[in-house]
Amino acid sequence: MKIDFPKDFWWGAATSGPQSEGRFNKKHANVFDHWFEVEPDAFYDQVGPDTASNFYNSYKEDIAMLKEIGLNSFRTSIQWSRLIDDLEEGTVNEDAVRFYNAVIDECLVQGIKPVMNLFHFDMPIELQNKYGGWESKHVVDLFAKFAGQCFRLFGDRVTDWFTFNEPLVIVDGAYLYQFHYPKIVDGKKAVQVAYNIALASAKTIAAFREINTNPAGKIGIILNLTPSYPATEEPEDLAAASFANLWMNDMFLDAAVKGAFPQELVATFEEDGVLWNATTEELQLIGENTIDVLGVNFYHPNRVQRPSVSADSLAVDWMPSRYFEEYAMPGRRMNVDKGWEIYPQSLYDIALNIRDNYGNIPWFVSENGMGVSREERYLNTEGMIEDDYRIQFIQEHLYWVAKGIEEGSNCFGYHLWTPIDCWSWGNAYRNRYGFISNNIHTQVKTIKKSGYWFKGVSEVGKLEVPDAIVEKWGEPALDFDAAQAVF
Ligand code: BG6
Repeated sequence: MKIDFPKDFWWGAATSGPQSEGRFNKKHANVFDHWFEVEPDAFYDQVGPDTASNFYNSYKEDIAMLKEIGLNSFRTSIQWSRLIDDLEEGTVNEDAVRFYNAVIDECLVQGIKPVMNLFHFDMPIELQNKYGGWESKHVVDLFAKFAGQCFRLFGDRVTDWFTFNEPLVIVDGAYLYQFHYPKIVDGKKAVQVAYNIALASAKTIAAFREINTNPAGKIGIILNLTPSYPATEEPEDLAAASFANLWMNDMFLDAAVKGAFPQELVATFEEDGVLWNATTEELQLIGENTIDVLGVNFYHPNRVQRPSVSADSLAVDWMPSRYFEEYAMPGRRMNVDKGWEIYPQSLYDIALNIRDNYGNIPWFVSENGMGVSREERYLNTEGMIEDDYRIQFIQEHLYWVAKGIEEGSNCFGYHLWTPIDCWSWGNAYRNRYGFISNNIHTQVKTIKKSGYWFKGVSEVGKLEVPDAIVEKWGEPALDFDAAQAVF
């Protein structure tokens, strides 16, 4: 069967500045550049961000390849550590302005919508060392200053802006579970950082409303929404899932869409003595500066159970996981390489949650994808990677997105992570996600089978769903006239 997607649906893919550009001509180091300098062993195969996928030098050829695989939209990020020369004053670096202008113009020449994000885990190291990065409200103001420069410089051509990518990952990685620099374990700081990022996002939106003169301009945030499913229906597991949802999803989602944090979460922070420091004016600013659109990154669901250790145990750091524990559901379907469960139905649950509890705000799948290691296993004799598993992964996820749209959810696009295999933090180049492969020694890029397949889908705006999927989940009665997304 064929599923028709709404007209003007975004068929695209996402990457970020620090993961694709390489450090060429970049004035400041960000936290990951610095971490690699001081501890290369922390990165898979000791591969750092210095070259990444060489986008700084090959953006023109790369964007031409994006055109070749049929993308009509492409997300990347503007690096604070590249664009700004003087981080306090917010003065701009001329080469960086030239570079981002060239990227944006090249996208437009190729008929690809440039979607720009402003923060993708890349705090300038000077600001981390001097002020503690997101621990500091001064840094919040410096970020809004940087964002203001982006709106002034590029807002005539960029209409789709996002303030942050996955703020929760910054909190979890840098302040709780030690997979982002500075690898601190401090629950109170983590909660303050979460608040400061929500504040930074709102201040950036306020700056956008003031500076932007492009009538088509919109701004949003990109959140990794991971629905939490309880291990059983027993009250203890339900309570664990409910707290996990508050922490992992509703904290940033409520602040961004509703302009206020969930009361229940605030009450728990207060009881536990970790509540953030906030002023009435700041909370008002968050209330007044909500998003226009939402990006949803979804890779895997979260299954949780009651914690095995009592919450009043002694000598333990405050962790949100004191209220829930991961549950490894027997028989779950996995991407074994990456160690993530595959459960595309979550995208339907997310779609309905946004429709019913978040004013049916326009949203898109801003990241979804399948990381596979040693992809050369799947090279054919012509030198192309035959990634049928990725095609199936996308088909299954789009099937559930379509079902959500059919039931009235306002989804206007799908972006795969990622267009061209890119560098990925601690995992470096271990897991490959792209439509296009990249030989990191030669920087030769080759379209995978999924790239050609995606072109076929995006050109006609229709997804051919294989019988096996229809047999498994049924045939949705799709009628998009009633549910046309606003975009
Ligand atoms: C997303 C991030 O969470 O996951 C990306 O936004 C990241 O920046 C992607 O690269 C995949 O992560 P990993 O570690 O499997 O490469």
